[in-house]
Amino acid sequence: MAELRTHPQIPQTHTFLKADNISAHYGDTAALKDLTLHIPANRLTVLIGPSGCGKSTMLRCFNGLVKISAGRIEYEDESIRALSETDLRRSMGYVIQSIGLMPHMTVEENVDLVPRLLGWERASRKERATRLLQLVQLDPEVYLGKYPNELSGGEAQRIGVARALGADPPVLLMDEPFGAVDPLTREQLQNEFIRIQRQLKKTVIFVTHDIDEAIRLADFLVIMKDGQIIQADTPEKILATPANEFVENFLGPNRSLKRLTLFTADHCMVEAISGTDANAKAYLEPETPGCYWKVDPKGIPLSGFAWVQGKIIERPINNSGHTVQKYSSLRECMSNILSLGLPSAAVVDEKGRLCGEVRFETIQKISIS
Ligand SMILES: Nc1ncnc2c1ncn2[C@@H]1O[C@H](COP(=O)(O)OP(=O)(O)OP(=O)(O)O)[C@@H](O)[C@H]1O
Ligand SMILES: [Mg+2]
Repeated sequence: MAELRTHPQIPQTHTFLKADNISAHYGDTAALKDLTLHIPANRLTVLIGPSGCGKSTMLRCFNGLVKISAGRIEYEDESIRALSETDLRRSMGYVIQSIGLMPHMTVEENVDLVPRLLGWERASRKERATRLLQLVQLDPEVYLGKYPNELSGGEAQRIGVARALGADPPVLLMDEPFGAVDPLTREQLQNEFIRIQRQLKKTVIFVTHDIDEAIRLADFLVIMKDGQIIQADTPEKILATPANEFVENFLGPNRSLKRLTLFTADHCMVEAISGTDANAKAYLEPETPGCYWKVDPKGIPLSGFAWVQGKIIERPINNSGHTVQKYSSLRECMSNILSLGLPSAAVVDEKGRLCGEVRFETIQKISIS
């Protein structure tokens, strides 16, 4: 099995959490075996690997829930053994595999849990709970008073994220936070999480089983097996040069298609041509590579027009599946382009207003680069 010989560095950041040569046991079971992992600050590190390979144990070692039997873990240059449990809890928000909301507490009480334990003032806690719900895009007026059994799976996951952010910890440990939801909700949660992370820039350690989710979210991707690290690098590097057959199998087929999940629409979009009338010919030359978008007075797209084989075609935009968000992946853009049959995908902002387009030719360039 290939070993991790040199630890890769992620540019423009420093190491924040360091595990050096750690081992962890449950009775006679060795869950982590002489493992070294340095977590870059303000970046999203994803741990992925087969069931039982030690991902959850790794998180629990970082926050002190599992005591290591060998090696050393440092948090900002200090051994975590020297830190009290409260300090660790204050520093690290934890979202667990099964969400873990308290069933007898309202959403507000759940989100407020750690700030209350830390003795924050009531008024600032209330304000914070409201802001956190807005951050995960749930209306505070509707949701603060609800109980966990009154939430859908996806909503409960969002509350789990809000609660972990409660005391504004520098580190977030997330153990399969989007594990229990359907693929569509999962994609939305990922989009939202990317948006939140770009805003907050936390140091996040995120566990998942889903390779597409891993490639999509990770700045630093760690592939584990049997309590050891097989490869750790940026997703681009891992996709381009998998360390061995295990990693290759784990990444699965269609690696070039998977590369498209690395990019978000806002990084690849160009200015879109738009207007409120349907006279597309006035705006489009036959060689224009993109679309003309007819929008309503607020800027919400109603139709897309493009030259296709010598004539102008029109495709109505009548549901949110016909547009993409700024944080949608290029893979979503590609599937939008294929389903509508236009040469570009309309990118909309939070209010549904057109803010650019992603062109097929751009996607093509990226997928062969
Ligand atoms: N509380 C426990 N008591 C005994 N053994 C445990 C305990 N928790 C985990 N283990 C064992 O330690 C190993 C690593 O478990 P861990 O939960 O870290 O895996 P994981 O990678 O998170 O798996 P999954 O993807 O299924 O969540 C496994 O062999 C597991 O059986
Ligand atoms: Mg686990």
